[in-house]
Order: sequence, then structure tokens, then C-alpha cells
Amino acid sequence: MSEEGPDDDHVADDTEQTVVRRDRFSGGPARGFLSSLEDDERIFEADLAVDRAHVVMLAEQDIIDDIVAGEILAALDEIEADGHDALPEGEDVHEAIESAVIERVGADGGKMHTARSRNDEVATCIRYRLRDDLLETIATVVEARRQFVEMATDHREVVMPGYTHLQPAQPTTVGHWIASYEQALARDTGRLLDAYDRLNQNPLGSAAFAGTPFDVDRGRTAELLGFEGVAENSMDASATRDFLVEVTAALSNLATTLSGLAEDVIVMASKGHVELADEYASTSSIMPQKKNPDTLELVRGRTGDATAGLNGLLTNLKGQPRAYNRDLQRAGRHAWDAIDSVTESVEVAVGAVTTAEWPTETLAEAAGEGFSTATGVADLLATRGVPFRTAHEVVARAAETLQHDENAPDYATLDAVAEEVLGESLSAYVAREAVERALDPAESVRTRDSRGGPAPEAVTEQLEGATERLERDAHALRDRQDALAAATERLDSEVDTYV
Ligand code: ARG
Repeated sequence: MSEEGPDDDHVADDTEQTVVRRDRFSGGPARGFLSSLEDDERIFEADLAVDRAHVVMLAEQDIIDDIVAGEILAALDEIEADGHDALPEGEDVHEAIESAVIERVGADGGKMHTARSRNDEVATCIRYRLRDDLLETIATVVEARRQFVEMATDHREVVMPGYTHLQPAQPTTVGHWIASYEQALARDTGRLLDAYDRLNQNPLGSAAFAGTPFDVDRGRTAELLGFEGVAENSMDASATRDFLVEVTAALSNLATTLSGLAEDVIVMASKGHVELADEYASTSSIMPQKKNPDTLELVRGRTGDATAGLNGLLTNLKGQPRAYNRDLQRAGRHAWDAIDSVTESVEVAVGAVTTAEWPTETLAEAAGEGFSTATGVADLLATRGVPFRTAHEVVARAAETLQHDENAPDYATLDAVAEEVLGESLSAYVAREAVERALDPAESVRTRDSRGGPAPEAVTEQLEGATERLERDAHALRDRQDALAAATERLDSEVDTYV
């Protein structure tokens, strides 16, 4: 954004009508403060598409004539080729593009802005651009899920410790663990797709907020821009940014999922339960022995970018009266920051996790730490008719006998406690081998085959469901990508009939 004043030569050369607003207001010290031109680079292409669709519709409705439409559309092609940086000064990209059109076409270029306002224009541009970004995020998440399903399949038998309160709790598998994140990402995908479908409505034709006396065809610009429908009420359509909130909230949820995953891996790395690939680790500038999980710490840290975006947006939007207020010019940036930051995080988190090594033996050994099979032993007694609460008591008392370095009581200890609590030897309920099997972490995992559980067959079943959902979402994504590509083609070929 230039801090200089208006371009005097240019103003002098032009007829009065060709000057877009710029010398009436906002030419003073606040000029730079008012301008969003630099930030608007993000919606430069979107604005050109919106201009093209609007001009085509105006010509089709006989609001402007075909020759003028052709001249404006040709100018837009040149402006696109020259790029955002070549735009003349302006309060924003909308004004700058209009000025650039007028520079090329003359005063008739100003017909481009018939029956619209920058208010509906910017709302349309934001939705148009956000759609692309959102589809990219969704594609990244769908790919992440695909990789997690594959990883879960390959690691169904890799036993690892599971934790609650960061304390060893029960054994599980790497497959079950990563499948849990696939499931969370599936819900994140659903939220992002929902947000996409709700935002994919056309505000264009609402003008400032109060519609227009011209006979515009809002359905037609919707079609040319690939929107699924029209954002009906013109006041709501030009004012609302709730779709930004919805997208950023869904991104915050996704970022929170990722930060949990990152935290898991950071903790695992600190215990030697995972070895990150070198390209996802970082060393210390002073401590030569260090291999740190910095990539994952940054993934965890980026959750702040998404939640900051959400907070920034809600604070910006709160209490804005109908219809348009300039505060809105500062709304989009929160969503752009969030979406860029989170999309990149997905890729890095997935890369770090799927290229890491999971040391089978270390994990198997760690899986038994802290008497993690205790619940399994209590479950075993409960399957033989001991009330679960009583079985819990037997195992709890046995756990109390453990010395610092012991991971589980031996059979004799359990038997002695059973005598005390049940008044009978363990063998009255269960064979010794069964108890010993229950004390084995891998065996404990194998028995936990309830629906959704960590036993390898149970994980296989979950993954079948996950794969089905994944294919459905991948299909939904492709449908939406295809619809946008088709709209772009439609618009291009309509434009070609005028240029
Ligand atoms: N650049 C503005 C935005 O991003 C649109 C300008 C509308 N300006 C106005 N004064 N109504 O929201």
C-alpha cells in the first residue's frame, strides 16, 4: 500500500467521472489507515471473477450493452495479467480494479459498478476465496485420515502404554491410538464441510444492503461463480460474516485435535517411545546430544493462531449494527491467518507421525509399567462371577504391595489377597494360567475386543468404518471441487463471447 498522496498526473489526465472517489474523501492523513489494498491481494483473483460474473449478468439483463461489457471484460484480463502489484492506488482492491478498468476503457468502465456496492462485492469475494482455501484444508485433512488409517492397519499389533492423567493406565496399541485421531479428524472434516456448504451462497446483488432498482439476476451470478444458492435477504447478505466465525471455529477444533496429537508425541518422544525422523526433529544450538520434537511443539503452538483468530473475529463482529460497517474490513484477516496456519499444521503433524519409528520392544516393555494390567485382572475375576467392585478391591490390595521397581504383583500375592478378601483361593475362580495371561500386556490388549476397543480385530472393524466414511468425505470433496471447476469454465466461456 502506498503512503503517497493521489497520483496528480493521473487525476489531471482524466475526465472527472473517471476518478473513482479517491479525491473526494479519504485522501488525507488517514489514507493508509483506511486502505486494505495490501491485504486484499488475497482476494484479487476473487474480485476479478466477481467483476466478470457481474458484468456478464449486467449485459445479459440489458443493463449495460454488450460492447461496453466486452471492453470491461478485456480490461479485466489485462489487469489480471499485470497482477495485484500493478494496481493503481485505491482504498481497496475493488476500487483499485475499477480505477484500472476506467483507465483502460474510459468513463464507460464505471458501468461495471452498476447495481452493486463494495459491500456485497467484498462479501462475495471473501466467500469465493474462502471456498478454495477451505477445500484445500479439507483435502489435507482427508489425506491425513487416509494416512492414519494405513498407519493404524500396520500398527494394530504394536502394543504400547495408554495413559490417563499422564499415568500408565492400560495397555493399548499404536494402531488403536492413531485410529482415535482419525476418528476425531473425521468429525473435523464434517464440521468443515458443513461450514463450506453454509458459506457457499451468493451475496452479490444485495448492493450496499438495500438491493437495487436494476433488474439483476442474482441466481445467474450465483451460477457463474459456482455458488449453490443466493444469500437471500440483502441486508443480511452484505452484513454477515458468521461464515467466517463458523470456519474459524471448525479450524480451532481441528487445531485442538492436532495439538492433542502433538502433545502425545512430544511426551512419547521424551520417554523414548517414538523416534522422530530427522527432518521432523530439531537440535539444540548448544546441547549437541539433543533431538527435539520442535515441529510438534509448533503444531501445538499454532492452536493459538486458530483460537486467536476466532477471538479476534468474534470481538470484531460483536455488536456491529446492521448493515455494513468498516470494522468488517478487519474481519477477514483472522480467518486467513487461521486457515493458513492450521492447514500447514495438518501436513506437518501427519508427516511427523507417519515417518516416525515406533520401537516395538521398548513400547511393549513400557506397556506393562505401573501395573497397567490391573484392570484386566479385575475384569478376569469379574468374568468368573466375582462382583466387579470386589474384584477391584482384590487387585487394589495387591497393587498396594508393589515395591517401587515392580510392575505387577505375582500370582502368589494375588492369591494371598484373594484369601483375605474373598475367603477363598483364586483357584476357586480361575486357573493360574489365565491370571498370568491377564498380567501380560499383549494378552490384555487381545482380550479387549469390545466394539471400538484396542484388540486387533476390533481395530480392523473400526478401520473398515473409517475407510467407508473417508471415501464418502473424499467424494463430497471431489463433488465440491468439480462444481467450482465447472463454474470457472462456465464463467470463462461466457466471458469469451464478449471479448
Ligand atoms: N474494503 C471494504 C471491506 O473490506 C469494503 C469497502 C466498503 N466500504 C464502505 N465504506 N462501505 O470491507
